Amino acid sequence: MNDRIRPNVRCLSAYIPGEQPDDPQVIKLNTNENPYPPAPAVGHLLKSVDAASLRLYPDPVCRELRAAIALVHGCAVDQVFCGNGSDEILQLCLRAFCPDRGRVGYFDPSYSLYPVLAAAADKPVAPLPLADDFTVPAIPEEYDVPVFYWTNPNAPTSLGAPLAQVTEYADRSRGVIVLDEAYVDFAAEQGGEWAWTRPNVLVCRTFSKSYALAGIRLGYALGHPDVIAALFKVKDAYNIDRLTQMLGQAAMEDQAYLRKIVARITATRDRVASALRLRGYTVASSQTNFLWIQPPTGRSAPDCFATWRAQGVLVRYFPGPRTAQHLRVTIGTDEQMDFFLQVAE
Ligand SMILES: Cc1ncc(COP(=O)(O)O)c(C=O)c1O
Repeated sequence: MNDRIRPNVRCLSAYIPGEQPDDPQVIKLNTNENPYPPAPAVGHLLKSVDAASLRLYPDPVCRELRAAIALVHGCAVDQVFCGNGSDEILQLCLRAFCPDRGRVGYFDPSYSLYPVLAAAADKPVAPLPLADDFTVPAIPEEYDVPVFYWTNPNAPTSLGAPLAQVTEYADRSRGVIVLDEAYVDFAAEQGGEWAWTRPNVLVCRTFSKSYALAGIRLGYALGHPDVIAALFKVKDAYNIDRLTQMLGQAAMEDQAYLRKIVARITATRDRVASALRLRGYTVASSQTNFLWIQPPTGRSAPDCFATWRAQGVLVRYFPGPRTAQHLRVTIGTDEQMDFFLQVAE
C-alpha cells in the first residue's frame, strides 16, 4: 500500500452511492429521487441560457439565491449558506466546528455518509444506537460531542423525532447540532424554524428530494449568522456554479409547485404503506418520500431485493446488523408504485 497516502485514507471505505442503472426501463426506487420534474420555470430557464455567460465565474456567495431562500423561510440573508448538495455542507461542518480529536456523533442507523466524512477528516465517531423500534432514545446525560448529525426525519428509517427532543439536547450540548432535514418537506411536523436563532444549531436542507433537483447538486443551511459565517470561511471559493444558482432560485420561487408535488408523493406513500401492511409487511410510519419496510415472516429482505430486481424494480438494501431485515423503498409515481405492488405480492 502506498505509504504517501494518509493512514486514515488508506483504510477508509468510501461512501457507496445508490446504483444508477443504465436501463431506463428499471423502476428506480433506490435513491429517494423525486419521480416528478422540477418546477416549470427550471425548464424554461435552461432553454434560455446564454452560453456566453458561462465565461464568467459565478457569484461566490450566491446573493440572489440566498435572498430567495431567506424570503421563503422568513430569515435574514446572512442566516443562509448554500452548498454543492447538502453533502458538501455536512462535510464543511467538520472543517468548521470539529476540533482535532473531536468526536462526531450521529444515530445508528442513520445516513451512512456521516462515518465516512468523519473517517476522511480523521475524527473518531460516537454513534448513538436508536431504540429497537428505531425511535430516538433518551440521550445519556454524559453524552456530548462537538458535532452531532441529527437526521430528522431519519433515513433510512423514515421516522421523525419530536422537535422537543432535539431542543432538549441542543439546550445542554456544548457542540453544534447539525439538523439534517433532507426529508422534512414530506413530514407532518414542519422543520426547525426555532433552530436558526440558536448559536449551536444548523439546519441543513436539500433541493435533491422535494424540489426534484438531485442532478444539479444544491443544498442549503439555515443558522445563526456566526455559524453561517464560519461555513463561508472554510468553503471553496466558487462552490456553486452559475447554472445551479439560477435553477435553484427558480425552484425556490415556486412554492406552490413544491406543495403540489409533495402532496402527490405523500398521498401515494400513504396508499402504498396501507397496501403493504394488508399483505403482512411491517411498514414504519413514514415522514419522508420513502418507506422503511420489513417483509412478512418467511421472506427475507435480501431475497425480496433480488426477486424484485429481477422483475425490474430496484429498491435499496443496507446490509448490517441493524438494517439487514429491512428494505428502503422510494415513492415513485402512482403508476410505478402500482407495478411495485404487483411485484411485492
Ligand atoms: C439524510 C440525508 N442527508 C443528506 C443527503 C444528501 O443530499 P444532497 O443530495 O443535497 O447532497 C441525503 C441523500 O440521500 C440524505 O438521505
